[in-house]
Amino acid sequence: MADHPMGGDPLRSGFEDPDDYGFETRAIRAGQPHDPRTGAVVTPINPSTTFAQDAVGEPKFGYEYARTGNPTRHAYQECLASLEGAGHGFAFASGLAAEDAMLRMLAPGDRVLLGDDAYGGTFRLISRVHGDAGVRHAAVDLTDPEAVRAAWTPETRMVWLETPTNPLLTVIDIERVAAVAHELGGIVVVDNTFATPYLQQPLALGADAVVHSATKYLGGHSDVVGGFVATSDDRIAEHLGFVQNAVGAVPGPFDCYLVLRGLKTLAVRMDRHCASAAAVADHLSGHPRVSRVLYPGLEGHPGHDVATRQMSGFGGMVSFRLAGGREAAEKVAVSTEVFTLAESLGAVESLIEHPGVMTHASAAGSALEVPDDLIRISVGIETLDDLLADLDRALATA
Ligand SMILES: Cc1ncc(COP(=O)(O)O)c(C=O)c1O
Repeated sequence: MADHPMGGDPLRSGFEDPDDYGFETRAIRAGQPHDPRTGAVVTPINPSTTFAQDAVGEPKFGYEYARTGNPTRHAYQECLASLEGAGHGFAFASGLAAEDAMLRMLAPGDRVLLGDDAYGGTFRLISRVHGDAGVRHAAVDLTDPEAVRAAWTPETRMVWLETPTNPLLTVIDIERVAAVAHELGGIVVVDNTFATPYLQQPLALGADAVVHSATKYLGGHSDVVGGFVATSDDRIAEHLGFVQNAVGAVPGPFDCYLVLRGLKTLAVRMDRHCASAAAVADHLSGHPRVSRVLYPGLEGHPGHDVATRQMSGFGGMVSFRLAGGREAAEKVAVSTEVFTLAESLGAVESLIEHPGVMTHASAAGSALEVPDDLIRISVGIETLDDLLADLDRALATA
């Protein structure tokens, strides 16, 4: 076998030192050595559930059983960890499975602070699954980092924040919240789903762990459900590695391949998502049927300055409120043609939804309830004029 510079050891990274390369290069190469047997440039989908051992307890290449470790998952984990600037990455079967693994750091009686605007499924997981197991929570306005101090109790262990948030696009200052939480002895978890590591690097801003719904921009094509946690904290990494194997909510090799494939075009997709979302937000801002546009790229957005500082682009998500209330919002949601009425976000096709009834229904009646005149759109990468004309047509029905 030729001594290929990318190495014949499947556990070796695609680069000697991925940190020497830029984001886009790492997205394509990190963790993905050329196949040493064939020279294939694409990491194979390896379906094997078990791996041969040289002697009892001595696996040939470090792999034993696919729940514990799988070569396709390994490549994906190395690649995305590199993109987040993390020492460790762990892939899970969904974003919520990834969140669950992280929340399992909390014991009964421990308390977590979460933003008062967050993905409804996160709230449900914290309040109804971990809540039933004795973990307590409080929703606070994380736009004011001092609110973290005010809400802190001796049992508080973790601050969970999303930025920009789903669905209100609220921007949280990661550095300032992390400074307060660390001073008080807690850890900070950032859900980086909306921004992606291309636009925002939470670990560099002081977060202890980053979680993702890889179902969204990372996969990018609405064809895979996945989740991820990245961290450089060895204690958190040890916990995640244990839970990943002990609980087993792992993605299959084909799912890992799909996200790994999505990562390769993340940068170019995000550039287009950002450009089109900015144009859509501008367009909606001048529309008489729209009472308010929520997009961090707009100068009037309350989080615009923080977003400008901590993000390299404002993302592809836009929310807006309708002057005509809930009825108008529901009419608009069902009237688009290019924007598909559907849950989820972050893929090449544009989507529209009514969060109050759809993605955030589980937050109804709680501090995280969203306004019923709110529409959330995920701006895709179709022809911009088609997107603007589609929204205009739909708004005319409201
Ligand atoms: C911000 C955010 N975090 C986490 C999740 C959960 O991810 P998944 O649906 O992959 O379990 C979602 C899903 O919409 C989300 O929007």
